[in-house]
Amino acid sequence: MIIAIDGLAGSGKTTAGKGLAKAIGFRFISSGQLYRFKALEPDVDLLEAVKEHKLKIEWDIEWEGKDISAELQREEIGSRASEIALLRDVRDEVNNVLRFVAEGGNYVIEGRDIGTVVFPEAGVKFFLTAEEGVRARRRAEQVGEEVNIAERDERDKKREIAPAKAAEDAIIIDNSYQSVEETIKEMEGRLPKDEFDFQRFLQYVLGPPVRGLFRIEVVKSHPLKHGRWILTPNHTSAWDGVCLAAVLQRSAYYVAKVELRRILGPLLSILNAVTIVRDTPDLKAIKAIRALLTKEKIVVIYPESKIFTDGIMGPFKEGAFYFLRKRMAPVVPVVIKGLERITVNTFFTRHVRIAFLDPIYPIDVFGLRENDISDKVKRLMVNAYESM
Ligand code: C5P
Repeated sequence: MIIAIDGLAGSGKTTAGKGLAKAIGFRFISSGQLYRFKALEPDVDLLEAVKEHKLKIEWDIEWEGKDISAELQREEIGSRASEIALLRDVRDEVNNVLRFVAEGGNYVIEGRDIGTVVFPEAGVKFFLTAEEGVRARRRAEQVGEEVNIAERDERDKKREIAPAKAAEDAIIIDNSYQSVEETIKEMEGRLPKDEFDFQRFLQYVLGPPVRGLFRIEVVKSHPLKHGRWILTPNHTSAWDGVCLAAVLQRSAYYVAKVELRRILGPLLSILNAVTIVRDTPDLKAIKAIRALLTKEKIVVIYPESKIFTDGIMGPFKEGAFYFLRKRMAPVVPVVIKGLERITVNTFFTRHVRIAFLDPIYPIDVFGLRENDISDKVKRLMVNAYESM
């Protein structure tokens, strides 16, 4: 999901945007930093540099392994950036990079025209404003020098291409007299919520007893309340899906093999299962999963595709990381330990630990083959499993 935050200089976009992204587990991009980078290095082809992993634009701007964000904040560069931001070619180049990097990810992106021009289909659009005096003071505090904010505002608002203005469907927030925390809270409250379904109901009712029964402990977590995610858990028992559901505060769609439909029948649909025919490219299932991701849902895919009960992870199926490689969603590898070789006798003595590893975004694995991605994720999961 893309969350667009637009506004003029000093409207608090960057601070509030970063805060929101942290709170909900998204990544953050400041598009202004890209204009600033272009002002500093006019000869660099931004898209090429990003594809070669020479330029990193998330959270901070890293150029050839060096964090140059602070340097880009100099007022002189900001002023030059706002001049070149008038040029069509420069705007097209920056917009292409933003769309490329963000494809299939969960991002908060801040700028002047994110909701109007770059991502008109963004999941939510905010437009932050504040009184001019307040904005000038904030900006001056930020750069430590007097700034002529009015001049830049005029240029940004009046320019012909992509002027800074609120999209028609933007949520406008005036934060002149709000703390950063209040702005973040307000934005978080305005994010779209999933509809309440049967799985969510079961989570409410059965979540606490299941967590108690298996003594579930989340040893590492990542916020998953908003946006699209693919979870790839290891699979030691039929109970690990139950444990996972008991700690997720959201409905998820479980990709299950089609044989399960015969055993569980309609129950599977109630539990949001997507059935897949194993070992064949199942186009119908791929389409269904793609549609769920577009609707910003959570999809669970077991990369081992079947249960390996002794805790030694089986080979990862090709295709488990198809949606990551095809830039449709980020992957959160999930490691579950404590359900190995479960029997009636040992059922009540379990201590289950769950770790949600750091998300892997499409941009992180750009240029890698599916096998390399799969190996990389498996290594991360095995290491985590062994250290739990
Ligand atoms: O937001 P920041 O001050 O870092 O942006 C620097 C300049 O880049 C702005 O003054 C504006 O002219 C330009 N810009 C833009 N469109 C964006 C982001 C920034 O034109 N989406």
